[in-house]
Amino acid sequence: MTIQQLQDEIIRLKKEKGVCILAHAYQKQEIWEVADYIGDSFGLSCEAAKVKEQTVLMCGVRFMAETVKILSPQKNVLLANPIAGCPMADQMDRDLIGQMKAAMPDYTVVAYINTTAELKTVCDVCVTSSSAVKIIRRIPNDKILFIPDCNLGDWVAKQVPEKELKLVHGGCPTHLRITKTDIENARNKHPGAEILLHPECQPDIVKEADFVGSTTEIIAYAEKGIKSEYVIGTENSIVEHLQYKCPEKNFYPLSKDCVCHNMQATTLMDVYRAVNGTGGEELVMSDDLIAASRKCINEMLKLGT
Ligand code: 13P
Ligand code: SF4
Repeated sequence: MTIQQLQDEIIRLKKEKGVCILAHAYQKQEIWEVADYIGDSFGLSCEAAKVKEQTVLMCGVRFMAETVKILSPQKNVLLANPIAGCPMADQMDRDLIGQMKAAMPDYTVVAYINTTAELKTVCDVCVTSSSAVKIIRRIPNDKILFIPDCNLGDWVAKQVPEKELKLVHGGCPTHLRITKTDIENARNKHPGAEILLHPECQPDIVKEADFVGSTTEIIAYAEKGIKSEYVIGTENSIVEHLQYKCPEKNFYPLSKDCVCHNMQATTLMDVYRAVNGTGGEELVMSDDLIAASRKCINEMLKLGT
């Protein structure tokens, strides 16, 4: 089968079976083309709460599928490729953060959405990269314990100096691969280009950027921008997507190493198998876990929209 034939078959099957396909922005172009909704983590969460179809297929990583299940527990939620996890989400466990929370009772525990459902049960509010600043400003407490990404936490802290943010040492291994030398090389090679970065990059790199934002914010900025060249400091799939969207402009990866192998694990064939009922993993979560992890996601949706 060609890619086109596979895509046609996926589109036919998803309509016949009532499957809604959600894809994170880091998914491959051929998956974007069969998705019903493409977005960053915040957009996917909002969409998850209002999907009409009985079955939702997540093309992304496990915590994203968990978020859909938490927000729509009555739906059948599938993760297209069961091995697609997020190493950052797995960095901290519930007992450790539970102990920190008990030792710091006057702090609000704010969790980046890139956390497991288990960990969310001991967190007060969730945020995403596009909603973190807004939500933290709106939390009626000046003391925040921010987990698990200290780079995103540092970026938020600089924009919300009125709050005291305690950070823990965690982060995204993909964005950590971007170095200061990559910035220097990009400035030398593409002097007319703007450098757009994700806030999961390290602080000494973030401060060199022309624009910092979530995946969809980076896409929107580059699409609307008047420059003809952009250097992209996030997962390299975004370079390809922007090149398709804006063929008249030039997009360059900041680092050839900024590839998330978990995000790229999902193939079009995985999507096909999940839609035709021979692949993917259906998420099973207990009612207690759903109820306990839902509180901090509900807080995010309440404060962030
Ligand atoms: P956003 O989707 O919030 O931009 O986050 C990027 C990311 O690393 C998702 O895993
Ligand atoms: Fe996790 Fe980073 Fe991959 Fe996103 S890019 S899924 S945060 S490892």
